[in-house]
Amino acid sequence: MERVDTEIKAERPTIYLDHAATSWPKPPAVYEAVLHTLQNDAANPGRGSHRMAVRASRVLFNCRKVLGRLLDIRNPVDIAFTGNTTMALNMAIQGFLRPGDHVIATMTEHNSVWRPLEALKQTLQLQVDYVPVDSQGQLDLLQVDQLFQANTRLLICNHSSNLLGSILPAAELAELAHRRGARILLDIAQSAGHIPVRLQEWKIDMAAFPGHKGLLGPQGTGGLYIAPDMELEPWIYGGTGSQSEASGQPAVRPDRYEPGTPNTPGIAGLAAGVQHVLEQSVSHIASQEQQLSHQMMEGLLSIPGVQVLGPELGRERTGIVSFIMEHQDPAQIAFQLDREFGIAVRAGMHCTPLAHRSAGTIGTGAVRASIGYGSTADEVQALIEAVRWIARQNK
Ligand SMILES: Cc1ncc(COP(=O)(O)O)c(C=O)c1O
Repeated sequence: MERVDTEIKAERPTIYLDHAATSWPKPPAVYEAVLHTLQNDAANPGRGSHRMAVRASRVLFNCRKVLGRLLDIRNPVDIAFTGNTTMALNMAIQGFLRPGDHVIATMTEHNSVWRPLEALKQTLQLQVDYVPVDSQGQLDLLQVDQLFQANTRLLICNHSSNLLGSILPAAELAELAHRRGARILLDIAQSAGHIPVRLQEWKIDMAAFPGHKGLLGPQGTGGLYIAPDMELEPWIYGGTGSQSEASGQPAVRPDRYEPGTPNTPGIAGLAAGVQHVLEQSVSHIASQEQQLSHQMMEGLLSIPGVQVLGPELGRERTGIVSFIMEHQDPAQIAFQLDREFGIAVRAGMHCTPLAHRSAGTIGTGAVRASIGYGSTADEVQALIEAVRWIARQNK
């Protein structure tokens, strides 16, 4: 592949392979929904009974409904909107755990699980065990089982590793947690919209999702599913537009967990993104992404000195392909891909030192290329050729 002159490259469209951080571009219907809502329906939902406020409330309800269809949530009010996955995970962790509890999490967790747990070790005297994962990013269910104690109240699991691309067995883990009298919180940041997620069928108690990744909505959207048979202590208190005379947070859902004015235009965009995923069908998206990640892995592995992290070629994974190259700084590779080839990927620690420890890349970090909406075989080939070129130049 020929090196692209910086001047010329600036006019080329970016090859965007950073969907694990946030998806881009979005389906056109998402932009239209945001703009339409902002221009026509962006009164304050639940805060008035005039027609525009009612339309704004409908925007929220419609989004809960399509999310429910995609993620298998029967009652739309069991979804609480948040600004992102991090807030949803904090809402679940801080709203559920009590002093002296024991928690089991995995060595694939994102910092949005690891950091709250580490902070609660100080304030709640929380006990935490992290289950190791192997080089394929998989855990041993027997080892998880052995970690349960009398005071274990929560098992937290990253459904799909944002570094390794591995997919963990959510239904089996839920079954295990329930048998031991605990609840399960699933982080579906990298699986929602990418692979099938069946929350109620799998008996998941809580699930945190981003609106802005595989669900193709705008940034500033996300949410938490809370099973109907459980309640959390709200982690933020404030105005809900309901039971305003009461000093306590209302018990009714979703108001209890959604104080303050929501991101109505963003949620309208999220509904359009979810609708797109439903129309394409998530199993179709999953098989397309699996095919592209297979192509990417095969190509990268044919380059001398390149090592791909996570599940080996041919085994199940999402569209996340992280790699390292002998004697090369991942940050330098990502910089060259961007500046010389117009290819956007991410390098560094990917907010998951736990997974880096599992993969043996805590000292180096890794380059992560991630596939998503609109990714093509040509784009994947362009990445492979660019990495091959960098490997040859920097030898
Ligand atoms: C597995 C995982 N959990 C949580 C998050 C945090 O997501 P957000 O940026 O929506 O807060 C990410 C983000 O990349 C992630 O990959």
